[in-house]
Amino acid sequence: MKKTSTSISIMFALALLLAFCTTVQASSSSCLVCHNSMSGKIALESGQEIDLKVDGEKYQASVHGFMACTECHIRFGEDPHKSPAGTVPENIDELSKKIGHKARVDAVAYSACVNCHEGIYDMVLESPHGENIVSKNEMDAALCLDCHGSPHYIVTAENEGSRVNQWSIVETCGHCHGDKELTEKYNIETNVLTSYIESFHGKKHHLGHKGAPTCVNCHGAHDIKRKDDPSSPVFEANKKATCGKCHKGATDKFVAAITHKPVGPIPHYMEIGLILLTLSTFAFIISHVILEAFSDIRDALSKKKEARK
Ligand code: HEC
Ligand code: HEC
Ligand code: HEC
Ligand code: HEC
Ligand code: HEC
Ligand code: HEC
Ligand code: HEC
Repeated sequence: MKKTSTSISIMFALALLLAFCTTVQASSSSCLVCHNSMSGKIALESGQEIDLKVDGEKYQASVHGFMACTECHIRFGEDPHKSPAGTVPENIDELSKKIGHKARVDAVAYSACVNCHEGIYDMVLESPHGENIVSKNEMDAALCLDCHGSPHYIVTAENEGSRVNQWSIVETCGHCHGDKELTEKYNIETNVLTSYIESFHGKKHHLGHKGAPTCVNCHGAHDIKRKDDPSSPVFEANKKATCGKCHKGATDKFVAAITHKPVGPIPHYMEIGLILLTLSTFAFIISHVILEAFSDIRDALSKKKEARK
């Protein structure tokens, strides 16, 4: 009797140890043993490059630093690179098929964000960005990592290093929306970045004015809509409310003042006309001065000749 109870407790202790080992293995340190000290990039069949190095210190300082790697890399079970099939929850498995072509190595990890950020993920999927990926089966538009950067080093938006903070978001959106080829492909205005930079708002922002709007103050970040969608904050009927967040009592005439559309052809030709007029006036004055100087010299010379006679 005593013997069996001892062996039971030994077995229990072993089971505990095993459970402990499994948890340790699933924590970030077991993966970091290799990935923190790896260096160098490997090329995938698709031609894209991946960086196997995950900087442990930077990872732990990120908003997800408290998590085990396997909370996103769900396929990677206790035995890191031998994944047991069928352990991926159904909702994530389904999502990973929809966005799979957007991921480079681990579509399951790219879908795992939905476990903790469901509302945001749904908004992005419903936006023109998500539509581009899911309905059109393209990979040109933005999903989480295009705006937030590496999944291992995400910091809060207030942080200087964040790609979505007030001072870097224009560049983050502009990376795609300032790309002529890409915007022409989808027939959207190619001028949004330059028109923003040249606008009163863009100039104030550049000078460090904290109250000046960036792209997300007018368009939102995750719940972006097309400009002709009645629920878009920049839809004609909603502009007064959108501008009104900062300009109390904005009128129809006021809200028409800001647009990305290039200035119409008439002001453009007027500008060219004005430049031509200025140039020709200068040309006239300069040639006049030269001719006059020339005739003065000629007069002086002929006077000299007469005097010698
Ligand atoms: C024994 C060292 C080692 C450990 C431990 C390790 N890895 Fe890896 N990992 C590698 C090597 C080598 C590669 C590159 C070769 C390859 O593609 O398998 C890699 C590649 C990867 C990749 C990208 C390519 C792929 O295979 O999907 C991911 C993602 C990854 N590891 C995640 C993890 C996670 C998560 C853990 C912990 C659960 C982990 N690794 C533990 C050595 C390791
Ligand atoms: C917040 C979720 C999340 C966590 C936590 C996480 N990863 Fe990742 N990881 C991803 C995503 C998403 C990708 C990119 C998937 C893609 O594009 O296919 C990725 C890619 C990778 C890659 C491939 C390299 C590359 O350039 O894409 C490696 C290696 C990797 N992770 C290792 C780790 C290790 C090791 C840990 C723990 C220290 C970890 N990951 C924690 C989400 C996560
Ligand atoms: C088009 C760019 C863009 C995409 C795509 C994007 N985000 Fe964001 N995200 C932002 C910006 C900008 C902020 C800062 C919000 C602010 O300033 O109000 C933010 C903030 C956040 C926050 C913190 C603040 C909050 O609203 O709770 C979380 C969490 C987040 N994003 C998760 C995600 C996830 C998950 C995805 C993918 C499903 C994603 N984001 C896709 C731009 C983006
Ligand atoms: C297991 C849950 C979990 C998963 C999975 C997860 N996150 Fe998070 N995420 C969090 C928590 C918790 C925070 C808040 C941390 C804090 O406020 O310090 C957070 C914060 C964020 C932030 C906010 C930074 C800010 O501005 O406050 C972003 C962006 C983000 N996560 C993106 C992602 C992306 C992208 C993925 C998928 C690759 C992902 N998360 C997967 C739990 C998770
Ligand atoms: C002050 C508000 C405001 C700011 C800031 C702003 N936009 Fe816009 N955006 C608008 C309005 C209003 C429209 C509707 C069409 C128009 O009037 O040009 C629009 C339209 C768009 C469109 C649709 C273009 C089309 O015609 O197909 C895109 C894309 C866009 N903006 C991206 C951006 C980006 C990227 C930034 C930051 C660099 C930005 N916007 C900054 C107000 C703004
Ligand atoms: C990775 C590239 C990429 C990034 C980053 C990106 N976008 Fe886009 N965006 C696109 C593409 C591509 C489309 C067109 C999708 C389509 O029509 O299929 C689009 C569409 C849009 C539209 C709808 C245009 C219309 O009226 O039809 C708006 C508004 C927009 N983006 C704003 C933003 C803002 C604001 C940001 C930054 C917070 C941003 N985008 C970041 C690629 C990007
Ligand atoms: C996030 C706040 C914010 C939003 C949203 C916003 N603006 Fe502004 N706007 C500013 C600030 C700040 C200034 C600079 C005020 C100054 O220094 O005089 C400014 C200046 C202007 C000016 C030039 C000077 C003036 O005050 O008359 C115009 C015109 C203008 N905004 C129009 C718009 C329109 C139209 C919209 C909506 C499509 C809009 N703004 C949305 C903050 C905002």
